[in-house]
Amino acid sequence: MKSKASAPGKIILFGEHFVVYGVKAILCAIDKRITVTSEFIPEERISIKSNIGKLELPINTPLAKIESPLKPFFYLAQKMIKKHNHKSGIKVSVESEIPSGVGLGSSSASCVAGAASISKLFEEVGNEKILELSIEAEKTIFENTSGADCTVCTFGGLMQYDRKNGFSKIDLESNFHFIIANSKIEHSTDSIVSNVQEFKKNNEIKFSELCKKESELVNDVLRFLKNNDLKELGEKMQENQQFLETIGVSNEKLRDMIKLAEKFSFGAKITGAGGGGCIIALVEESNLKSNLYEMKEKNLECFSAKIDFKGLNTF
Ligand code: PMV
Repeated sequence: MKSKASAPGKIILFGEHFVVYGVKAILCAIDKRITVTSEFIPEERISIKSNIGKLELPINTPLAKIESPLKPFFYLAQKMIKKHNHKSGIKVSVESEIPSGVGLGSSSASCVAGAASISKLFEEVGNEKILELSIEAEKTIFENTSGADCTVCTFGGLMQYDRKNGFSKIDLESNFHFIIANSKIEHSTDSIVSNVQEFKKNNEIKFSELCKKESELVNDVLRFLKNNDLKELGEKMQENQQFLETIGVSNEKLRDMIKLAEKFSFGAKITGAGGGGCIIALVEESNLKSNLYEMKEKNLECFSAKIDFKGLNTF
C-alpha cells in the first residue's frame, strides 16, 4: 500500500521580520507543491529519498545522531512506527516543485505532506493533528519555528498572523498573480533574524517607528485586499520593501531584481528573511507571460505563482 500527500509552499506578502516583534504579517500558500509518498518495507529501516539527497538508517537510530535536512521525515516515520508498535520499516519518497532554502516554505510543505503521508499508513488523521505533527517535525531542524508556515501549508489560502493572536484566514474574492524570482543565494533565516535584532539594539527608536509604520501598512493592506485593489497593494509592497531595506536585509542582487520587476508589476519586494532567497512581484494575469519572458531574458530563475486555496491534499 502506498500513501500519498501533497502540500503547497508559501510566500510572505507583508510583515516579515517585524512579525518577530509583534506586528501582523500576511502570508499565503502558492500553487507549487511538495508530494510525499510512503510505503511499508520489510527491512527494519527508514529510507528517505528526495531531490536534495538520501537518508537511510535503522529504525531505532537516535535523532540526535542525525544531521540531515531530511531529519523531519525520519522523525515522523520513527514516531509512527513506535506509536503503532510496527515491526518493519518505511520508505519515503519526496518530489518537489519548490526550490529549497530560499524562503518558499519547502521545509514546512515537506513536514506537512510528510506528516499526512506517513500517518495515513497507520490511521486517518485530521488536519489539526497533521499540523501539530508537522510543527513537531519542523522543530527537529528549526527549533524556533513560529508554526506560521506549516499552518498556511496545511490549510492553504491567505492568512494574517501575529504572535499574540495567532492565525486567521482572510477571505478573498479573487486570486492574485505573482512572479517569484530566485536570487539563488541560500539564506539562513536564523542569522538574518539575529542581524535584525542587532539593528534593533543599535536603533531602538527608529526600529519602533518602523514597527508602527509596518503595522499601519498591514492594516491598509487588509482593506485593499478586500477591494482587490492591485495598484494600492503594489504600492504597499514597494513601501514595505523600503522598510526591509532600512533594517538591512536586502542586498544588491535583490535590489536589481526588484528594480527590474518594478518596471512591469504593481510592486515587488523581498519575501521572507531576505539576505538572499526570493523576491515577489504582483502582476496582471494578462501580462504574466511577457513579464516572465522579460525576467528570464536577464537570466533570472523565475516562475509564476498564484494563491493555492486547497492546502494539504491526500490521495
Ligand atoms: O525566509 P523565511 O520563509 O524563513 O521567512 C522568515 C520570516 C521572518 O519573519 C524573517 C522570521 C520569522 O520567524 O517570522
